[in-house]
Amino acid sequence: KEHFSQERPLAGKKVLVTAGPTRERIDPVRYLSNFSSGKMGYAIAGEAAKLGADVTLVTGPSALPIPPNVQAVSVESAQEMLEAVLSRYDSVDAVIKTAAVADYRPKTVHGEKMKKQADELVIELERTTDILKTLGMRKRQQVLVGFAAETTNVAEYAAGKLESKNLDMIVANDVTKAGAGFGTDTNIVTMYKRDGTSIPLPMLSKQEVARSLLAEVQGLLNGGHV
Ligand code: CTP
Ligand code: CA
Repeated sequence: KEHFSQERPLAGKKVLVTAGPTRERIDPVRYLSNFSSGKMGYAIAGEAAKLGADVTLVTGPSALPIPPNVQAVSVESAQEMLEAVLSRYDSVDAVIKTAAVADYRPKTVHGEKMKKQADELVIELERTTDILKTLGMRKRQQVLVGFAAETTNVAEYAAGKLESKNLDMIVANDVTKAGAGFGTDTNIVTMYKRDGTSIPLPMLSKQEVARSLLAEVQGLLNGGHV
């Protein structure tokens, strides 16, 4: 039993990971999106499954293969991601939100392909729902982990998101650093916890970042004791 639990410390735990970008449609052939590759979230999903967790990966469009023993749910827009996550929220123990969710979507989605007309075009946008904030407001037993991609004032913005979204931990990276952020195989992150402690990690592979993060999640799931 002891041997088993050491090798599979997340056995019996349900972990929901979101990954990748979202796409917000403009018309049938165009969308707004971002440069997220999905690598960080797929690495977390894969490592969590290796540690024995029951893993669901809610993923925006990504070219990556689904890791072994991970149940994938494909979504496109922020709204679809919201619905996929909310419908599973009550039954999971931890949510790790690496997805780069669009903050805005076009106010109207054109049913037909837009034809070019004037020299200038203005597309009106409206805010999407903040999925993580919604989860934070409805939190019961779940451990909630967010990510923050920043280009400046990393610690300050990360602390603000930890508080405003009612998270247990936020993983922040400065995406202007070489070896961090979108599309890379490595990441340089600092994990900020609710108790005010922060854990800076050196440049690591996304797989190694995933392992460090999951060790913290394991501790949080066990009531703060690893
Ligand atoms: N997030 C979310 N739903 C959104 C926007 C963001 O769930 N509509 C989540 C992301 O998945 C991430 C965290 O919130 O885990 C932080 O995302 P980030 O873009 O860094 O922060 P925002 O709160 O969107 O603030 P801003 O983009 O203005 O910095
Ligand atoms: Ca954002």
